[in-house]
Amino acid sequence: MSLYDNEAKAALAQIAKKDKITILAIESSCDETAAAVLSNRDVLSNIIASQVDIHKRFGGVVPEIASRNHSLAVKNVVEQAVEQSGLQLCDIDCIAVTYGAGLLGALLVGVSYAKALAYALKKPLIAVNHIKGHIAVNYVASKDLKPPYVGLIASGGHTAILKVKDYLDFEVLGETQDDAAGEAFDKVARVLGLPYPGGPCIEKLAKEGVANIKLPIPLKKQLGYDFSYSGLKTAVINYVNSAKQRGDNICAADIAASFQDVATDMMVDNAVRAAIDTKIDTIVVAGGVGANTQLRQKLEEKAEKFNIKVFYPPVSLCTDNAVMIAAAAYFMIKSGKSSQTLALEASANVALCD
Ligand code: KG4
Ligand code: ZN
Repeated sequence: MSLYDNEAKAALAQIAKKDKITILAIESSCDETAAAVLSNRDVLSNIIASQVDIHKRFGGVVPEIASRNHSLAVKNVVEQAVEQSGLQLCDIDCIAVTYGAGLLGALLVGVSYAKALAYALKKPLIAVNHIKGHIAVNYVASKDLKPPYVGLIASGGHTAILKVKDYLDFEVLGETQDDAAGEAFDKVARVLGLPYPGGPCIEKLAKEGVANIKLPIPLKKQLGYDFSYSGLKTAVINYVNSAKQRGDNICAADIAASFQDVATDMMVDNAVRAAIDTKIDTIVVAGGVGANTQLRQKLEEKAEKFNIKVFYPPVSLCTDNAVMIAAAAYFMIKSGKSSQTLALEASANVALCD
């Protein structure tokens, strides 16, 4: 522990007692360089520099290119976030940053920048788990939301059902055994010749089609809450390849609609069943796939039948941003679980509940 670490620890204890905590957060785990300033749960600024157009050409995120572009963007993005917040750097109480999970080289940029900033400003550094951020952004979007609830996490890297017992106390009830839901959307989109990221493109194309292709529902007969998206993705690829071999015309819109129908059913079924089984009357959606309109509609319809409430963030806060990182940091500070030294390292793989 350095002198800075001891000072930061003492400073955090003081910050936790404040009525208004001002947090500058940085997120760089994949292809968005993002920074945000929050005062408690109020968003003062939210800046996102997306690299989507750069990676589109390659059909997915190229890690080295992502790291390089984070390096180019991070300084400007942070400066803009501070400027738009109307505050000065000296008004910020602490710096929060995503340390994992994600692309290691991409994470390193945000972590290094946050460490340097924290050291130079003599402000505490808070290391945030990306998935905890996706969940916590719901507390910014819905100020009346309180645990306990069942969390449906659906992003490009994770798909899981959590029992959220308290703000920072989670239990994994089920998770994907192979691909994440977002990954399946992206891969199916690629097979259909749609650009990256696939989720929004599949959703748009599905509106023009009919879900008339029979696809398998993996793990349907099991009673747990696990997912398997690899089999569903392979079924779509096989369907497309067989049709091509036979010289049949394929209707991409029908394939998109059929895939989306099964993919969303799997999430809705597991989330609602988990809420019923645990006798918890609230489901909270988190992660990029949570932007999907069909998922939201089906979840609301099914949940309503069992008097279960559903919360989800606005679409702009479903995909990666730094507001979510600041939100998680806020609850970490409040609970006293946030001490972090400058020895912090980025980590590509982080357990969901770490
Ligand atoms: O949470 P996120 O921004 O990044 C990760 O933490 O992985 O999620 C990105 C994923 C991508 O796979 C993207 O295709 C998917 O979320 N996604 C969607 C939609 N918008 C984004 N999937 C389905 N429907 C959407 N509207
Ligand atoms: Zn994410």
